[in-house]
Order: sequence, then C-alpha cells, then structure tokens
Amino acid sequence: MCGIVGYLGEGNSKEILLHGLKELEYRGYDSAGIAILEGDNFSSFKAVGKLVNLEEKTKDFQTKGFSVGIGHTRWATHGKPTELNAHPHLGESSYVVHNGIIENYAELKEELLAEGVNFLSQTDTEVIVHLFEKNLKAGLQPFKAFEKTVQTLDGAYAILLITKGEEETIFFAKNGSPMLVGITQDSNEKFFASSDTPLIGYATEVNYFEDGDYGYVNKEGIVIFNEEGVKKEPSFKTLSQNKLSAQKDGYRFFMEKEIYEQTNVISDTLLGRLHDEEVVFDELPSDLFDGINEIKLCACGTSYHSALSASYLFERYARVKTSVEVASELRYRDPILTTDTLFVAISQSGETADTLETLKMAKEAGLKTLVICNVDNSSMVRLADASILTRAGVEKGVASTKAFATQVTVFWMLSLYLSQKKQTLSNEELKRQICLLREVPAAVVVTDELHEKMKRLSKRYLHGHGFFFIGRDIFFPLALEGALKLKEISYLHAEGYPSGEMKHGPIALADPELFTIALLPEHMLYDKAKSNVEELSARDATICAISPLPFDKADDYIATKKQKDYMLEFFEMMVVVQLLSLEVSIRLGNDVDMPRNLAKSVTVE
Ligand code: M6R
Repeated sequence: MCGIVGYLGEGNSKEILLHGLKELEYRGYDSAGIAILEGDNFSSFKAVGKLVNLEEKTKDFQTKGFSVGIGHTRWATHGKPTELNAHPHLGESSYVVHNGIIENYAELKEELLAEGVNFLSQTDTEVIVHLFEKNLKAGLQPFKAFEKTVQTLDGAYAILLITKGEEETIFFAKNGSPMLVGITQDSNEKFFASSDTPLIGYATEVNYFEDGDYGYVNKEGIVIFNEEGVKKEPSFKTLSQNKLSAQKDGYRFFMEKEIYEQTNVISDTLLGRLHDEEVVFDELPSDLFDGINEIKLCACGTSYHSALSASYLFERYARVKTSVEVASELRYRDPILTTDTLFVAISQSGETADTLETLKMAKEAGLKTLVICNVDNSSMVRLADASILTRAGVEKGVASTKAFATQVTVFWMLSLYLSQKKQTLSNEELKRQICLLREVPAAVVVTDELHEKMKRLSKRYLHGHGFFFIGRDIFFPLALEGALKLKEISYLHAEGYPSGEMKHGPIALADPELFTIALLPEHMLYDKAKSNVEELSARDATICAISPLPFDKADDYIATKKQKDYMLEFFEMMVVVQLLSLEVSIRLGNDVDMPRNLAKSVTVE
C-alpha cells in the first residue's frame, strides 16, 4: 500500500531511492517514481508496473554531488494506475509524494481549478503541490507555505515535498500514515521511509514521526513541529541492522520460507512466557484485566481469523465473554463500547488503517486497549495501553502465514494467562495446556514427505468451480483462513464454512467440480464433522480430507499425525492448508509473494 522514500546527501540518490522502493515492494504497488533535485535541476522518472520498468528508465541517469530526492510506490486509490497518476506529482517547481488519502481533496481541487490551476492527474495527492505553490505565490517563505498547506489538509498522509529555491531541504508531514527519518553519526545524510527495512544498511538511528508532526530536514539537521505548531526534538532509536530474515534463503518465495520458519518463530513467541505452571506476560500491566467483564477483538483479514480463533479459546479456557469484529464494520456502525470491555486490536503490521481507527475509537470511549502485533514501534503499538509482540520477524509475503501462526500462539497463551487470573482451569489442566504449547513448534515442522505430497496433490485442484474449506469449532476460523490463503494467491474462488452450515444452502452447489477441503481433527467433534462431509460426498462433491484418521469417503486424503490435543491438530492442519495454496499458486504460475490487486499493509480504509 503506497510506500515513500526520501534522501538528502552527497550519496548516489538514484540508487538509494530505488533500493528503498525495492524494500517497500512487499506493501503492494502498481506504479512507481522518483524525483531528484540537484542544484536547481530537477530529474523525474515514473513507470507503471514493476520497479524494473523504473530501473530501465533511470539507467542512464546519475547524480554527481549533493542532491535531495523523493520516491514512491503507488497502489491506486484515486485514478487508474497510469504514469500520469504515479507519484511524484509536479507543480511548477516542486514535487510531492504522498501515502494516504486527502479526504477534502475534491473541494480543494475545485477551488484551485477555479483559480486557473492545471491538473495533470486524477489523484488526491496533486492538490498538495498546487496548494503549496499557491501559498508560495502569495508571498510565504517555503516552510511557511508548506506549513499552511499541511494545515489545510484533512485525512491520512505521509508527505515529502522538494522545491526549487530550497534545494537543500526536504519538507515532510505525517498524519495517520507511517513514516520515519534515519541518520548516521558520521554524515549529514537523511533518509526517509514508510518502514524500517529501506533504511537498514544506510541509517543507524531513526526517529518515528507521530501523527501531526511536520517540518523539514537539511544538511544541518531535522526540525520537527507537532500538530499544535510547537517545535519538538527528534527521538532517535537505534535501527537494528539484521537483514538476514528479510532474504529468501534459497526458498522459491518468501511465503514458502515463512511457512518453514513457523517452527522457529513460534519458539520465539513462547520464549520466556511459559513457566512450568504459569503463563507470564511481563509486558502486560498487572491490572490490565481488573474490572474487565468482556473482551472485544477487532482486526482485518488474516488477523481477523486469528481473532475468531481467540474467541473460542477465551470463552473455553478463561470463561470470559468475547466478541469479534471486522474493523471496517465496527468503525461506522455506532457500536456500544463499555468501559468494562478490554479492546484488543490484532495486526501483523500495526498500520492497517481500519484497525488503527477502531483502536482510536476504543481509546476515545475510555476502554482499556491491548494490541497483538508483529511490528514494534508501529502506530498501533505506540497508541495502545499495552501490547504483546508476536515475534514472527519480518513477514514479506503478502499472504500472511507466520504472523497468523504466532498470533494464535499468543492468543492460546493469553487465554491461559486469563484463566490463571480467573481460576477457571485446574492446576493440572493448566500444566497440561502449557506442555501442549511447548509442542506447537514440532507440530508445524514441514516434512519433505508432506511438502512432496502437497506438490503432487496440487495438480488436481487447478480447475473446478470453487472450493469450500470446512471445519467445526476453532477449525471454522482455520477453514476461513485456508480459503483466504487460496483465493489471495491462486485467484480461485474459495469459501470457508462451518461444516454444519453446508446443508443450510451451500450444499446445493455440490457436484464433482466442487472441491471440499475438510478439516477433520480427531479431538474436536470428529463424528459430527465427519457426517457433514459424508453428506457432501453423497452428493458427489470432490472431497479432500485432512485428518489423522483415514476417511474412506474422501477422494484425496492427507494424513496428519496423531496428536494429543485438538490445538496441536489445528497448527498441523494450518501448515497443510498453507502449503496447498502455495503449491496451487505456483502451478498456476502466479506471483506468490505479490499477488495481483493486494497490498501487504493496507494503510487506507
Ligand atoms: O497487518 P494486518 O494484520 O493488520 O493486516 C490485515 C490484513 O490486511 C491482512 O491480514 C491480509 O488479509 C493479508 N493479505 C492476509 O494474508
């Protein structure tokens, strides 16, 4: 979802900006561009499609000395993915890049058009650069013109702007969309980006801008004002330089690597949190659950599915009333939010716009808030009263895998942590659950045998008129997640359903071209789920059963290990559905890591 980079210094601006954009590719984009100001000379390049197209266009361009530059990967919101709509956008003598949405752009554009300003694109962004130049023409100094522009904008934005007349300056503003600036101790260089990764290897310390921050950088330093216009000092943190986990390590795709990594990252998630007879979250304030009678979980996409899984665990083990909300729905339905409810936002990125807004809503309503997140220092982590980091490491594949696995692991632990407080489980059962949790890393190991089986099996599932993933209890959210994975990367139609619901309508679709992926765990309602699958089999649907118990009505059977508990079966089956989607997608020749129309981090609503 749109990425921003910026650079000021003597270095090779073009390479630094292109490198940064490459690191932001995972966010999803459909066009890209850069603009560089060297002396009073502007050079700007834009290209539709992948970054190689932009690299090709810039191959003969080099800077020679000091320059300022900005770059952008665009995920189309207002206007089609064309070169004209790609950023940076030009005024008469300034360029701007922007991530987010300017909500009042239509009124602003109308006013500017009436004043004779010529617009080249259909974007909301272009108003920024024209407003800035209008303020300049009215006689304001460049920074004052920029400040006034920012004060006129409504909506979410991370903005970088460069202009002739201030050739050694980059202006910035941040509100609702992520942005940070990086520095090194031994140069005057400044680096901007939407997330940490583009700055690794360049900057050693970073400042994360807060909502309402705006200002400028030049050779001398960084000047930041808060939303009240009060000057503030940057707050620098050391930037971790570990890029190892951000590389493919010989796997064909990041998603494949991330599926294999699950065993290690789940071990990290458990680390220090499991004692012999107790689950411990040192990061949680001890009074977080005081006065709490209900938990409301809120998220989007895969994180929503992990939240649904959590609701089964919280109610079963901690006996606490739990509701689950899709963030984009909660935002606008005027919900009843009471202060005896703990609001829990779940997000891999910590930047998803809809989830972030619900977190703000909950805070405004006076609720205690907790965030389950994979990215430290992300907007949600900084906003919530408390946070638990999932420790999945950088997840690059757009289709989330290890983030889901670690979220469910955290939720399982959290349900036990709560059960300790509420004394809803016996000591014996608590100890048993802790032992089971220790077995999760082993349950998600991808064996050669399993992966080979999934590779072979995938060729039988490339056609048909759709997939139903079905399961009962907590295997229903897993069915939803299995279906989401398949549709995201294979572009085949897939739905997740509770097994028992099929006969209430969807069974009408049953025929040999309807593929049912049936989750049949031994330790959770096996007989009931099995009869639901038999009903489908009797109507000639093609059945692929995933179960430790052989099932003679299945056309295909994927044998999982005999496990002690349904949660270990859950994690093992999770790997199976992830591998199925991966192999189907590879056979179809799709871009597994960057599927069409999708963005890794959805920072617009
Ligand atoms: O970063 P978040 O967890 O907040 O992202 C939420 C969804 O956008 C995300 O899970 C999306 O559904 C993924 N593509 C799933 O694979």
